[in-house]
Amino acid sequence: MVSIEEKLAQVRAKREQAHLGGGELRIEKQHAKGKLTARERIAKLLDAGSFEEVDTFRAGRGPNSPLGDAVVTGFGTINGRKVCLYAQDFTVQGGSLGEVVGQKISKIMDLAMSTGVPVVGMNDSGGARIQEGITSLYGYGEIFKRNTLSSGVIPQISAIYGPCAGGAVYSPALTDFVFMTETNSYMFLTGPKVVKTVTHEDVTVDQLGGAAVHMNKSGVTHFVHETEEKSIEAIRQLLSYLPSNNMEDPPFVETHDPHDRMEETLNKIVPLSPNKSYNVKDVISLVFDDGEFFEIQPAYAANLVIGFARLNGRSVGIVANQPNVLAGVLDINSSMKGARFIRFCDSFNIPLITLVDTPGFMPGTTQEYGGVIKHGAKMLYAYSEATVPKLAIIMRKAYGGAYIVMSSKHLRSDMNFAWPTAEIAVMGAKGAIEILKGRELAAAEDKVKFIADEEADYSENVANPYNAARHGFIDDIFEPRTTRPRLIRALEMLATKQDSLPAKKHGNIPL
Ligand code: HXC
Repeated sequence: MVSIEEKLAQVRAKREQAHLGGGELRIEKQHAKGKLTARERIAKLLDAGSFEEVDTFRAGRGPNSPLGDAVVTGFGTINGRKVCLYAQDFTVQGGSLGEVVGQKISKIMDLAMSTGVPVVGMNDSGGARIQEGITSLYGYGEIFKRNTLSSGVIPQISAIYGPCAGGAVYSPALTDFVFMTETNSYMFLTGPKVVKTVTHEDVTVDQLGGAAVHMNKSGVTHFVHETEEKSIEAIRQLLSYLPSNNMEDPPFVETHDPHDRMEETLNKIVPLSPNKSYNVKDVISLVFDDGEFFEIQPAYAANLVIGFARLNGRSVGIVANQPNVLAGVLDINSSMKGARFIRFCDSFNIPLITLVDTPGFMPGTTQEYGGVIKHGAKMLYAYSEATVPKLAIIMRKAYGGAYIVMSSKHLRSDMNFAWPTAEIAVMGAKGAIEILKGRELAAAEDKVKFIADEEADYSENVANPYNAARHGFIDDIFEPRTTRPRLIRALEMLATKQDSLPAKKHGNIPL
């Protein structure tokens, strides 16, 4: 009979064998590329010693498949809070996804859903396991379905720490946030060889789907870091702003930053000349707790700034026009960026704070042919639909449709404020004068003086915050230096806000 010692030795040996994945040689190859292994990534992501592995002894298909196959799955804690996770193991058949890998990932996603905890997926894979054929596709399909059903219920985070090719890219694309690293990380539907055959383009993997491409051009990724270590640290930080699921509030984080802190600098931050700009991130760092701002997609559609911060310990999502980039104009990319973020915050009970200074939507054929109408409509839809507490401050320009879009009262915003520098009107002074005073302008002897006088008159009598306040569309006009305490008090007031949507299966956002 086998002794208990032998049984214990057997389980230890099998576990050790599973931990080796594809073996020492392939682990060395992984390190030589400057990449961590799946288990090293997990160790860095989770609180020390908190990892509980699931399916360690799940056998892959085929005689040479090591225990656990090409993915490590399980659960643990990050800053003491539960998460489920999976890390694809490139040392086993290039991290390729067959039936077993698909089932392991699906199982851990099911656990995350039934317990209401976030899922972090670390991708490093050659895609569908070619030898397995249809069962690989089944594996992907099951994951995509779970990504979709989990959307808005638990936060889903994808990290791309190696190849992520073919249909495999659709799982990260369905999740809430995608992290990439500057090197070794790429996502594309078809590789350079297929591209060459079909479109005759010569491209490298980095030109086709590297991190820079997905941050600067496609907007597929939300974060790019120099190293896997920095990326993993950022995932931990991101989770600190989020609740574990849609039924919870985000965690409260104690701050020593005074709730009544006044900032004199804010009184002079908006230049009086409408042609001069300023950096809205300076406003953000002066107002929110400890000057901290966790920015999302900093290099994509930089004319709109989005990210997380805290106000007196509470997580908030910030949506801010950036006057420093294209004067803060709204366009296709910034609308998509903003709308998706607004919907994320609304799904997870994170109040929205909108900082407004935009001349409006970008005119021109490029934007019109690209469908700026339907993309801009996404922002309207997202704000109108959001039931979380919504606050807005008009710092300077809020003209036309952009006034309505940027969390106006008319889209169910709760408290809207203006600084005395706010300009709220149907259109800017120049356009309005050309339309309303065209004949007088044509007849004027000194046209420059005529325009200057009319502009001054327009600014004083039309484009100011008082007309909007007179109608109750602005709840108060206050000195910029008082912004932090004013926002904090409004946010505390709204903490118990109740609001809902009409009963429906789901809406039909203009996609
Ligand atoms: C089975 C695979 C594999 C795959 C890699 N391997 N990809 N095995 N199925 N898809 C194996 C290799 O045979 C090799 O095995 C080991 O993994 C490491 O691969 P290398 O090629 O040596 O590594 P490297 O040079 O770093 O190149 C990595 C790579 C390349 C760029 C990912 O392997 C590659 O191009 N793979 C194929 C990618 C692909 O076309 N996948 C299908 C996409 S279509 P050994 O035993 O030698 O170590 C798809 C459809 C999904 O995914 C649809 C979902 C809806």
